[in-house]
Amino acid sequence: TVLILDFGSQYTQLIARRIRATNVYCEIHPFDVDPQIIQDMAPIGIILSGGPASAFTENAPRAPQIVFELGVPVLGICYGMQAMADQLNGKVANALAREFGYAELMVEPCRLFENIQDRVNAGGQKILDVWMSHGDRVDALPPGFSIIAHNAATPIAAMADESRQFYGLQFHPEVTHTLQGCAILDRFVHDICQAGSDWNMPNYIDEAIGRIRARVGNERVILGLSGGVDSSVAAALIHRAIGDQLTCVFVDNGLLRQHEAKQVMETFSRNLAVNVIHIDARRQFLERLQGTSDPEQKRRIIGREFVEIFQQEAARIDDAKWLAQGTIYPDVIESAGSKTQKARTIKSHHNVGGLPDTLHLELLEPLRELFKDEVRELGLALGLPRDLVFRHPFPGPGLGVRILGEVKYEYAELLRQADAIFIEELKYSGWYEKTAQAFAVFLPVKSVGVMGDSRSYEYVIALRAVQTEDYMTAHWAELPYTLLAKISNRIINEVRGINRVVYDISGKPPATIEWE
Ligand code: XMP
Repeated sequence: TVLILDFGSQYTQLIARRIRATNVYCEIHPFDVDPQIIQDMAPIGIILSGGPASAFTENAPRAPQIVFELGVPVLGICYGMQAMADQLNGKVANALAREFGYAELMVEPCRLFENIQDRVNAGGQKILDVWMSHGDRVDALPPGFSIIAHNAATPIAAMADESRQFYGLQFHPEVTHTLQGCAILDRFVHDICQAGSDWNMPNYIDEAIGRIRARVGNERVILGLSGGVDSSVAAALIHRAIGDQLTCVFVDNGLLRQHEAKQVMETFSRNLAVNVIHIDARRQFLERLQGTSDPEQKRRIIGREFVEIFQQEAARIDDAKWLAQGTIYPDVIESAGSKTQKARTIKSHHNVGGLPDTLHLELLEPLRELFKDEVRELGLALGLPRDLVFRHPFPGPGLGVRILGEVKYEYAELLRQADAIFIEELKYSGWYEKTAQAFAVFLPVKSVGVMGDSRSYEYVIALRAVQTEDYMTAHWAELPYTLLAKISNRIINEVRGINRVVYDISGKPPATIEWE
């Protein structure tokens, strides 16, 4: 395992994904992780991530000292390099010239950069094009280190102590703007840490199946299937491992997209022969939601209702011992976090994760170590349809938070039709894959229109399509006007009850992706 200590950089997950892409397993832990955990993990190398702090301030986050005492290679990136410099008795200071964005570095011969360069200049000096983002810099090398890259603004842009295999990079190798970044990370993990290349999907499936069988034995497992990517892939994997010992519960809450229930049942029950209990709770959810228009209140009702139904069903499955969930690695990292940092709740995201433990079931989370792109790769390898595997994320409360205010059956039906047209046209035009999430929102306000020779007075549909990597920030997608025109036309012509379509051009922040 390669250990990544997270100092809070927005790129930490990117480091991990780049390393996994070189077929090396790595894990992210907060910088203040218990040193004993590091000791027990016995990593073959350690990476210190970037972060927002200043290394020379009094309470600046530090790596546990054990990092430098294990005798394994260490790579510090940006803040990670500064923390390393400071802890090993170098000097860090505020940079006179801050550097953000593209920079050109002169590179000295060293193991980390051997045969890695973008070009050679007229004087025969190797050049790297890198991406920088820092206000502080290392001003004096710690003992034993030498400079391996520099430019005018940053005299110590990279440093190395080759005897101890400690390296520091002021730039970010994990972002694509650093053209040789992947090669540098690859060099660090494969040549310097001497990692093998055993992290790949076929290996993973075999190991995961082995682990599931060993843990579960001949006991029964239940899983709440939502139709989303994560729970679907978890179901397919567990089914591959233990077959009929797995029972899935699929709850139709009446807030699903068009034909969704049918598709889930077809894929799992019919094609994969997974045991799926299909619960039609459409009426029940709508009844409970009646009269409620506050978004958080709606979320709570939907969440609570789901838990209740799921528990009832689970209780009916005799001798169930395990509750399987599609928790993926970013969920694990986020909920662990650092002791010193806590994110604020903007919306309470309800997941199956909110199940109380009155069921006395043990948790089985076979995707806990995987990133989303790895989950998708696994899904394809397990034979799930591409359509499902590359589906946009859908919130747990479903259309419940896409119908503004009070939820009514009539509204849900109109929204489903409009949404289906939108998605169909996005797929047809190739824009579905170019957006991270796209959906229609129902606005319960009426506006005046004219259709034929008569006046209409009907509801409004808003379309939302965004581009984002991490869903924390997002840009609205610049869909072509011709495409928007076609979608608007179709919705107004085909969905009776809608006479106006608008396109949401708000970014996140300050808007959120969903409207509620
Ligand atoms: P926002 O609207 O907060 O959404 O920008 C970010 C991402 O989270 C999804 N989302 C939810 N997912 N339960 C969920 O499981 C929720 O209550 C919920 N609210 C938002 C949203 O679809 C987007 O992908």
